[in-house]
Amino acid sequence: MESLSNKVILISGATSGIGRAAAKLFAERGAAVVLGSRRKERGEELVEEIRRGRGRAVFRVTDVTKHADNEALVDLASTTFGKLDVAFNNAGVEAIGSLLDLDDATYDRVFDTNVRGVFSAIRAQIPALERTRGSIIVTSSTAATRGFANAALYTASKHAVEGLMKSAAHELAPLGIRVNAVSPGPTSTDMLDRFTGGEPDIMARRVPLGRAATPEEVAQAAVWLATDAARFVSGIALPVNGGLTA
Ligand SMILES: NC(=O)c1ccc[n+]([C@@H]2O[C@H](COP(=O)([O-])OP(=O)(O)OC[C@H]3O[C@@H](n4cnc5c(N)ncnc54)[C@H](OP(=O)(O)O)[C@@H]3O)[C@@H](O)[C@H]2O)c1
Repeated sequence: MESLSNKVILISGATSGIGRAAAKLFAERGAAVVLGSRRKERGEELVEEIRRGRGRAVFRVTDVTKHADNEALVDLASTTFGKLDVAFNNAGVEAIGSLLDLDDATYDRVFDTNVRGVFSAIRAQIPALERTRGSIIVTSSTAATRGFANAALYTASKHAVEGLMKSAAHELAPLGIRVNAVSPGPTSTDMLDRFTGGEPDIMARRVPLGRAATPEEVAQAAVWLATDAARFVSGIALPVNGGLTA
């Protein structure tokens, strides 16, 4: 198995779910992880946990909707570990409701986080990643492949995330930067609980393999995309959904 001990990985949305699992997995594989999210206490607890396991981790309170925060997280990677090899732009929020219920404020919240957040983060990361010929991974969703009733804004935002990913893959290839997405189906996290009103089985039973993914299973796909084994892979959204989109 390829060691990641020479890699520095930035992860947003690291305080729970897929981002938290990715932080632990990348650190177990030897990478230094630079973590960002809004909840300070949770972030600091995670850093402690990773360090207890002899991993290398730092955390900074980060709101991905703010460009200065995205730049500061890249600076933290450079000042602490000397460089940035991989950025996993994973932070996201959901919104549930009919088209008549969803309003402008919800639009702003969802698009500011899911789309502006990824756009701003990528812009902040390009100079550092150009130096290492690194790579970018974003978290998309099955909701980027089809429509979903009562989730129009979330679905539209994830279509936009994949548009950004594919465009960045074209534009940044001459700089040696690969850009990909992981595309989870239902995954056992706080978000899935919120999406399903605390009944995740509603979505999990539609999955051909019969259950929701674990956050670790999605994180494994991000790890693969970050390794040199994926060095000729760019511009894809890798489904981790138990056959849902087959
Ligand atoms: N769970 C699923 O079924 C599923 C399926 C497909 C795709 N996804 C995607 O997977 C990604 C991770 O979601 P999850 O399921 O792990 O949900 P989660 O447990 O709710 O985690 C979301 C993470 O995003 C962070 N976050 C939210 N807004 C942020 C902001 N403005 N700035 C910085 N961090 C922010 C949260 O941390 P703070 O609150 O501390 O900021 C949290 O760490 C999201 O992009 C989501 O759309 C999830």
